[in-house]
Amino acid sequence: MIVSALQFCPAFLDVERNLETLTGHLRDRVSDVAILPELCTTGYFFHDAEQLERVAETADGPSVTRFRDLAAERDMVIVAGFAERDGDAIYNSAVTAFPDGRSEVYRKVHLFAEEKAIFTPGDGGFPVYDWGDRLRLGVMICYDWRFPEAARTLALKGAQVIAHPSNLVAAPRLWKPVMRARSFENKVFTVTANRNGEERRGEERLVFHGCSQIVAPNGTTLIELEEFDTGWISAEIDPATADNKAFSAWNNIFTDRRPDQYGN
Ligand code: ACM
Repeated sequence: MIVSALQFCPAFLDVERNLETLTGHLRDRVSDVAILPELCTTGYFFHDAEQLERVAETADGPSVTRFRDLAAERDMVIVAGFAERDGDAIYNSAVTAFPDGRSEVYRKVHLFAEEKAIFTPGDGGFPVYDWGDRLRLGVMICYDWRFPEAARTLALKGAQVIAHPSNLVAAPRLWKPVMRARSFENKVFTVTANRNGEERRGEERLVFHGCSQIVAPNGTTLIELEEFDTGWISAEIDPATADNKAFSAWNNIFTDRRPDQYGN
């Protein structure tokens, strides 16, 4: 199975243009699973809630519809971040679109910085999706990396691959080794699709550091991009290798766990 991550710079607030760009990238790449960055249809550094309102969409809006159509056309699973409107709430979400027309939405649980002022935190937990018997896929978004519980919860629920759509502003020297650890400590593949470029708000400037990576269950980086690269990385993987949680002849990192000793 080929899994891929796209690194690019979205046009701020220009959903139509971003969907065209993403459609081009998705039609360019042969892959089984394609992971796009957080908020890849809108950009990130909203000035206020009203600006976010203007680009937020429901889970059957034009962006999700386009990803569902492309998943069917390209016969691939697509994971893509978007701003999701549901009633009065707006979530920082990621859709997972399957080739058979099914789609699922994860709403970011751990909101970062000023996201707290404009998004509603997700309360749907960390779901794992079955793609027939081919793959069990978990999703977490960006700042969820800072919480071992996110990847651990997904792995305990059986995820073999964790998709990690991101708009990381932290230095890659911080999050890259942590995501390798998330793979190693759970024996799962992790795929971080981070955006690049910068966005400005008056005098303020946010820089997104790219460096997308795909990591194997033993913590080894299979492939990675540089900060300013635009395009895809892909790796051929066997998801079933993530089902083996043995660490030695005597040890299994899941059955050795002692939740009764952890206290919370
Ligand atoms: C982030 O969670 N977008 C930093």
